[in-house]
Amino acid sequence: MNRKEFANRRKTLMRMVGEDGIAILPSAPVRIRSRDVEYRFRQDSDFYYLSGFAEPDAVAVLAPGRDNGEYLLFCRDRDTKQELWHGSRAGLDGAIEDFAADDAFPIDDIDDILPGVIESRNRVFYTMGAYAEFDQRIAEWVKALRSREASGIHAPHEFIALDHILHDMRLYKSRAEISAMRKAVKIAVSAHRRAMAFVAPGMYEYEVEAEYMHEFRRHAASWSYTPIVGTGANACTLHYVDNNAQLADGDLLLIDAGCEYDYYASDITRSIPVNGRFSPEQRAVYEIVLEAQLAAIEKTCKGNHWNDPHDAAVRIITKGLKKIGLLDGTLPKLIRDGAYREYFMHRTGHWIGMDVHDVGDYKVGDEWRFLESGMVMTVEPGIYIPASRKVPARWRNIGVRIEDDVVVTNSGPDVLSKGLAKDPDEVEKLMAA
Ligand code: GLY
Ligand code: MN
Ligand code: MN
Repeated sequence: MNRKEFANRRKTLMRMVGEDGIAILPSAPVRIRSRDVEYRFRQDSDFYYLSGFAEPDAVAVLAPGRDNGEYLLFCRDRDTKQELWHGSRAGLDGAIEDFAADDAFPIDDIDDILPGVIESRNRVFYTMGAYAEFDQRIAEWVKALRSREASGIHAPHEFIALDHILHDMRLYKSRAEISAMRKAVKIAVSAHRRAMAFVAPGMYEYEVEAEYMHEFRRHAASWSYTPIVGTGANACTLHYVDNNAQLADGDLLLIDAGCEYDYYASDITRSIPVNGRFSPEQRAVYEIVLEAQLAAIEKTCKGNHWNDPHDAAVRIITKGLKKIGLLDGTLPKLIRDGAYREYFMHRTGHWIGMDVHDVGDYKVGDEWRFLESGMVMTVEPGIYIPASRKVPARWRNIGVRIEDDVVVTNSGPDVLSKGLAKDPDEVEKLMAA
């Protein structure tokens, strides 16, 4: 992402914070996986959105109009010995030269410096509850300022939820963000294609997962969530991630896998027949889900409500379930009663961006939000018929979800993942190749 993009975001936020305010954002902490082994570090999305700075132990501060610089970055100092073990650091000079901070300080000096900057401000913009330890430090700095009010020290008197403002900014994607998402989708699409050509009866789910990992990593991406590779009954477990069962001839395989590229996510699902041919029941369910997905995409338009795509999917899924005999009753009543929820128990989509389930409110007040140009969401209806449902055996253990990533644009929905086959005949053709 271009450095200018981060500068523009800071400028936009600073306009909202104003000259009597200050915004404070901590980096993500390093997390331990097991004893001495850490998880690979991934920066906090809000922090990265404003700074482009990917190191831990950092705090970004925006103090609009401050004479000695508006953008302060507290970060780790250079340290030859530490860098030999853990890799290079930007240091204070790098924070200024490469990350456009107006001023940079060692993170270890933050207790001495930051309270003095907070002191000149009335309003603190901060996201409470994300990092408990940092919440505590903010509280201590403000408490210390308050305790000195009798000696003329000024303490801020208003706390404002920074996430509320920042997450609204993040909901509208810029051209550069859409282009990063396009790249994340492109990589995931090529991984899905690779898997479709690879899958065969007798393989294990983890072997299929490995195809995705290979494709992600060779394009400088990593997964944006643990891939779901579920065959047969496992396709009906929404968050299945064991990925250790053998693929049986005649089963369906649901793969929900996306990657993160340059801090932007993709999230794509395809449901494919393990032996390359859908059974009549699998095809019947698949066609309902596909019709629902296409109808939902058609509703993913500027000016529609957030819930319109979901309503469209619900209608088609309910109609389809009735047609194949899994639901009984009149269509309006089945919809009103939510009868479809027995087989379609999740919503049709979510915002996607830096986080796979991205930030942004779905409602404004009590009303579903209007869709606007630049918003990006997934469209992912599904039908799941676990063995526990009292339906004829031939329908059991069929789980189908079809998921694409869609940008709302002035000229209609732009399906970023449109290059990936989902028509059942096309899927069969790809699998036979
Ligand atoms: N992969 C998670 C989801 O589809 O929401
Ligand atoms: Mn998904
Ligand atoms: Mn999703």
